[in-house]
Amino acid sequence: MNREAPSATQADNRSPFYPNHLFVEAVAALAVFAATVLAAYMWQAPLEEMADPGDTTYVPRPEWYFLFYFQLLKYFEGSLVVVGTFFLPALTLTLLMLLPFLDTSTTTDIRKRPCVAALSLAGVVAVVALTALSVVEDESHADKIVLPPITGEQITAGREIFGKFCMLCHSIDGKGGFMAPDLTQIGARANRAYIERVIINPQIVSQTTIMSVIPLNEAERHEVSAFLSRKK
Ligand code: HEC
Repeated sequence: MNREAPSATQADNRSPFYPNHLFVEAVAALAVFAATVLAAYMWQAPLEEMADPGDTTYVPRPEWYFLFYFQLLKYFEGSLVVVGTFFLPALTLTLLMLLPFLDTSTTTDIRKRPCVAALSLAGVVAVVALTALSVVEDESHADKIVLPPITGEQITAGREIFGKFCMLCHSIDGKGGFMAPDLTQIGARANRAYIERVIINPQIVSQTTIMSVIPLNEAERHEVSAFLSRKK
C-alpha cells in the first residue's frame, strides 16, 4: 500500500482514521469473531426444553443483555407503549448518530468532558439498575411450586376436596355448578403447575374472576391438582 509520510498535524501523535484506526478496528472485530466461532464450536449453546404449546405457565424472557430494555418497557403501559418501543430507542440512536457533531471536543481526557462523561455514566447506571430490577422482580415471582409424584390416594382425596370446595362453581363429568368453566377435560389443556397456580391466585386466569382464593393447604392443593390433571 502506498503510505504517505505523516503530515504536520499528525505529528502530535494523532493518526488518521483511514487506514490506521480502521485497521485496528478490523483486527479487533475479526479476533472477537474468531473467539465466538471457537466458543460455539467447543461448547454447545444451551437450549431450553422443547416448546410445549399446552404449557400456559411458561414465562418468556429475553437474554440477560436485553433485560434492561424489557424492564423499561414495563413502565410504559397502554397508549404510552410507543414511547418505550419507538420514541426512546429512536431518540437514543439519533443522539448516538449526531454525537460526533454535537460533541466536537478534541480531548480524550474524561475530566475535561463532564457533560458527556455524566451522560454516559447515567446510561450505564440506568442499564445496570434496570437489569438488576428485572432479575429481582422475576425472582420474587419465581415459581416455587414443587410437585410430588401423583398417587392413587392423592387422586381420591383430590376428588373429595374438589366436591367440597370447587363444585359449587365448577362442573365435572356432568355434575356441579354452572358459574365456572367445566373442568372435565382440564388435564388435556392445562398441566398441574398451572392448576396449582390458579388455586393460589385465580386472577391469573382473569383479573375480574369471581373465583376466590380457596384456603387449601399445600397437601390439599397437590391432591386437587393431581385429581384434575388426570381428567383428560
Ligand atoms: C366462586 C366460584 C368458584 C369456585 C369456588 C372455584 N372456582 Fe375455579 N374458576 C371460577 C371461574 C369463574 C373461573 C374462570 C375464570 C374466569 O374467567 O373468571 C375459574 C377457573 C378455574 C380454572 C382455570 C380453568 C381454565 O380453563 O383455565 C381452574 C383450574 C380452576 N378454576 C380450579 C378451581 C379449583 C381446583 C377450585 C376448588 C379448589 C375452584 N376452581 C373453585 C370460579 C370458581
